[in-house]
Amino acid sequence: MEWNLTEAVNYYRKQGAPGDQSAVIALLREMQQENGGAIPRGLLSQAAEGLGVKEGLLLALVKRLPSLRLSDTHILELCAGPNCPKRADLAGFVEKTYGKTGKFTVKTVPCMRMCGKGPNIKWDGVLYHQADEALIRKLVEER
Ligand code: FES
Repeated sequence: MEWNLTEAVNYYRKQGAPGDQSAVIALLREMQQENGGAIPRGLLSQAAEGLGVKEGLLLALVKRLPSLRLSDTHILELCAGPNCPKRADLAGFVEKTYGKTGKFTVKTVPCMRMCGKGPNIKWDGVLYHQADEALIRKLVEER
């Protein structure tokens, strides 16, 4: 099953987060593990919102614990399942528009299991439905 930040936040809230710091740290570790070994910035702010704390608090924990780290490059994940690419050739658009500029990392991922809401993409771990070229341009330019 696809990892989901909201479900993870809800789980760790039941374990005592944000009052119990060990539950917050466990959430941060899971976020890192599920995102290729580094926590995307965008995900950190969403987690802070979900926990009802300031992003700075989570940032301070990440900085204090050497085993945790933030990703310094943006990551665009494009759903390459059987349905999303049929609705829009976003991989082709990204390749043509940004090529190998190194502005961000592009990954294609298997079906995100939300085909009805596609095309689905993630930018720094944050999920977007009904993605199109305009949304990708906006995300890249706002970085
Ligand atoms: S093909 Fe993209 S969510 Fe299934």
